[in-house]
Amino acid sequence: MSELNLILLGPPGAGKGTQASRLTEDFGLPYIGTGDLLREHVDEGTDLGRQAKEHMEGGGLVPDDLVIAMILDKVDEEGDDGFLLDGFPRTVVQADALAEELEKRDRRLTAALLIHAPDEVVIRRLSGRRQCSEGHLYHVNFDPPKHEGKCDQCGKPLHQRSDDEPEKVKKRLATYHEKTEPLIDYYEDRGLLRRFDGTQDKVKVHDHIRATLATLRLEERL
Ligand code: AP5
Ligand code: MG
Repeated sequence: MSELNLILLGPPGAGKGTQASRLTEDFGLPYIGTGDLLREHVDEGTDLGRQAKEHMEGGGLVPDDLVIAMILDKVDEEGDDGFLLDGFPRTVVQADALAEELEKRDRRLTAALLIHAPDEVVIRRLSGRRQCSEGHLYHVNFDPPKHEGKCDQCGKPLHQRSDDEPEKVKKRLATYHEKTEPLIDYYEDRGLLRRFDGTQDKVKVHDHIRATLATLRLEERL
């Protein structure tokens, strides 16, 4: 089997979404972005959205059982030709659930891609992030759109995420350090971790990840 089953790990603002959109194109992988899916539920006012909202706005995590069910449904829906998970798993409970459910389906993870960036970089980035309703990402200084306030790719208006206010970013970072950082050792111990320096230019980060994945895919095919 040569499918690439990948997860993206890293603090808020490290560039997971930015890299994911490039990598899904490079490798033709289905993209499953947990944050985007949850925000859709919130906007549509579904049961899950109502339960998720307060956790997301407070900078905490949505309860494991809700997120696990949502993601496994999505993984099954996408078939068995690889996936790129952005923002899942975020706790050891979620990581164990993913491993167990993949095993039941005779599948396994290919790699956990860690994009690292220190807190001060993340805070600068998130304060200037803008995005459209399709999820295309910009930064007012580092990656501005050609026309202010308008998406280059689809022309839709750009907005700021409500959880990108400085106080909420600090809370999200604290949540990351406490709940998600233990997954670095978790995947290192299983020989699945690949590290990338997220402070570099996004083109460089992309080149590094793409080269690593090309090698991994060759190895999978051998
Ligand atoms: P989610 O939407 O996943 O947010 P996050 O993890 O906090 O990550 P971000 O999307 O903020 O950052 P990113 O790494 O994608 O950075 P980006 O590429 O945009 O989750 C939101 C919430 O949902 C969570 O807080 C939680 O409540 C809930 N949730 C999600 N998953 C969950 C789970 N599994 N369990 C429970 N709850 C869950 O880049 C940021 C900015 O920097 C952009 O402006 C970009 O243009 C710029 N940029 C990117 N790369 C570079 C670079 N190399 N150089 C300069 N600028 C750059
Ligand atoms: Mg993101």
